[in-house]
Amino acid sequence: MSVSRVLAPFCSSGLDVAEDALSIAGVNSGDIVFDLGCGDGDVLIASASRFKAFTIGVEINRKLCRRAWVRVKEYGLQHLAQVVCGDLIYFPISRANVIYMYLTSEAYSLLKDKIRFECKPGTRIVTHTIPIPDWEADEIVHRWCSDKPYTIYLYRVKGSRGLKGVLDLDFDLEFNVETLRLSLNIIGGNFMEVLNKVLN
Ligand SMILES: C[S@@+](CC[C@H](N)C(=O)[O-])C[C@H]1O[C@@H](n2cnc3c(N)ncnc32)[C@H](O)[C@@H]1O
Repeated sequence: MSVSRVLAPFCSSGLDVAEDALSIAGVNSGDIVFDLGCGDGDVLIASASRFKAFTIGVEINRKLCRRAWVRVKEYGLQHLAQVVCGDLIYFPISRANVIYMYLTSEAYSLLKDKIRFECKPGTRIVTHTIPIPDWEADEIVHRWCSDKPYTIYLYRVKGSRGLKGVLDLDFDLEFNVETLRLSLNIIGGNFMEVLNKVLN
């Protein structure tokens, strides 16, 4: 049985900051963007509407998942943005070109190995406000929005993967698909469509 835990409280990036962070990461329409802990969907909306990138948000709080999905629909972005309700720790991230996170130092410490093991070289990791402990950022950008300062950290995953993402391992596939099916609940979109995006 897996144990889920809340790795950060909800606080929205704001559409302007999300858009700025994604532009610092050089997001374009060919990218697959994941927001790990997507809250009410600002990053999904910025990514899909401004950059036309396929974007998946993973969120543990069911109410926020629903709110994010309602907003995605209000913006008419269902073809480009999907919301997965579940614990981001169990979500396979090997397919992402860009991962956005607005979490805590403790969360990043937990996620460092997952990122190293699952992400392909060149994957851009963007964090808002809080850096990833002990990782040297490729870019650090300080800006202001509505009289409030914020900082965006950009990292590029280097070298080859230490391990393949668990979901890439054939013998584990069935088990993991089943685990995913049980632990995640696709709020927006279709389970197989999301799986295809995250597995292939
Ligand atoms: C600071 S908010 C960021 C929201 C959004 N990314 C944004 O920038 O607007 C962090 C979010 O992560 C979610 N979260 C925390 N732990 C999580 C987990 N284990 N799995 C998925 N989401 C989680 C919280 O519920 C919260 O909505």
